[in-house]
Amino acid sequence: MAVQIEKGEVLQKVSKIAITSALAVILGAIISGLLLLMIFKQMKQKERMLRQSNVQLTELKEAAETASRATSELLANTSHEIRTPLNAIVGLSFLMSQRAEQDPWNQEKLALIKDASTHLLSIINNILDIARIQSGKFQIEEVNFLLEDVLSKNVFNLVSGEAKRKGLEIISDIDASLISPLLGDPLRLAQVILNYLGNAIKFTEHGHITVRARPVEDGPSGLLIRFEVADTGIGLTQEQAQRIFEPFEQADGSTTRKHGGTGLGLAINRNIAKLMGGEVGVESIHGLGSSFWITLRVHRSAHGSGQYSGKFRLAHRRGRLRGGSPGTH
Ligand SMILES: Nc1ncnc2c1ncn2[C@@H]1O[C@H](COP(=O)(O)OP(=O)(O)O)[C@@H](O)[C@H]1O
Ligand SMILES: [Mg+2]
Repeated sequence: MAVQIEKGEVLQKVSKIAITSALAVILGAIISGLLLLMIFKQMKQKERMLRQSNVQLTELKEAAETASRATSELLANTSHEIRTPLNAIVGLSFLMSQRAEQDPWNQEKLALIKDASTHLLSIINNILDIARIQSGKFQIEEVNFLLEDVLSKNVFNLVSGEAKRKGLEIISDIDASLISPLLGDPLRLAQVILNYLGNAIKFTEHGHITVRARPVEDGPSGLLIRFEVADTGIGLTQEQAQRIFEPFEQADGSTTRKHGGTGLGLAINRNIAKLMGGEVGVESIHGLGSSFWITLRVHRSAHGSGQYSGKFRLAHRRGRLRGGSPGTH
C-alpha cells in the first residue's frame, strides 16, 4: 500500500515537473518569439528610416547640384555683364591717352584707370573660367596653329613690358620637332603658359625665366608636349607647393597684400591640363626658384608644313627676350 502511495506521489511529482517544464518552454518560446518580433519590428523601422534618409540625401544632393549649377551660371552671366563695360573702360582710356594734347596729369590718371581695369578684367576672366569649368561649359577647340606663333603673339608679347620693367630676361627654348603645324587649342595653351609666366615674373626680382617645350609622347594617340616655366624667384616650401594648385590658394597671406591676385591661375591650369589629357606640377627650392610644368595633348596637323616657313622659324627656335625688345622673338 505504501509502495502504491509512493508511486502515485512520484507520478504526481513527475507530471508536475513535466507540466512546469513544458510551461517554461512554452513561456520561453513566447518570450523569445516576442523578442524576435520586437527586433524584427525595430529592424524594419530602421530600414524604413534608412530608406527615408536615403531619399532625403538624394534630394539634398540634387538640390545642392542644382544650386551649384545655378551659382555657376549666375556667375558666368554676371561676369559677362561686368566684362562688357570694363572692356569699354580699358579701350576708351587707352584711346584717350593716345591724344597728343593730353597733359601729363591726365596721362598718368588715364594710365592708372587702364591698369586698374585691366587687372579687374583678368580677375573676372579667371572667375568666369572657374565658373565655366565647374558648370561643364569649358570648351576645348581643335584648330591648326604654329606653336612659336602662339607663344610669341599671345604669350611673350603680353609679358615683355613687365619683364623689361623688372630687368628680367626671358629665354624661350622650344624643341625643333615642335616647329611643324599642330592641331589643338592654341588659346588655352597660351593661357596656361601665360598664367605660369605671369607668376614667374611676379615672384622673381633678379635673374631669368626659361620657357621650355619638349615632346614627351608622339604617336597615333597624339603629341603630348611638356611645357616648363623655370624662374630664379622666391620659390616655395614643400607644404606650399602641395596646395597651391587648389582654387583660391596662395603660398602665404602676404602674397595677396603685396602682389594682388586671386589664387585661381594655377587651379585653371590644372583643370585645362585635365581637359587636354595632361597634368601639372611644380619643383621648387624655397628661396632659389621654381619650375612649374604642364603636359598637354595636341595632334600633328594633317595640313603639313608646306604653307609655313620652317627655316625662318628654326632660326628663332632658341630666343632670348631681354625685356622683350621687338623682333627678338
Ligand atoms: N613662380 C612662382 N614662384 C613662387 N610662388 C608662386 C609662383 N607661381 C605661383 N606661386 C604661388 O602660388 C600662388 C597661386 O598662384 P595663382 O593660382 O596663379 O594665383 P595668383 O597669381 O592670383 O596669386 C601664388 O599666389 C604664389 O603664392
Ligand atoms: Mg597667377
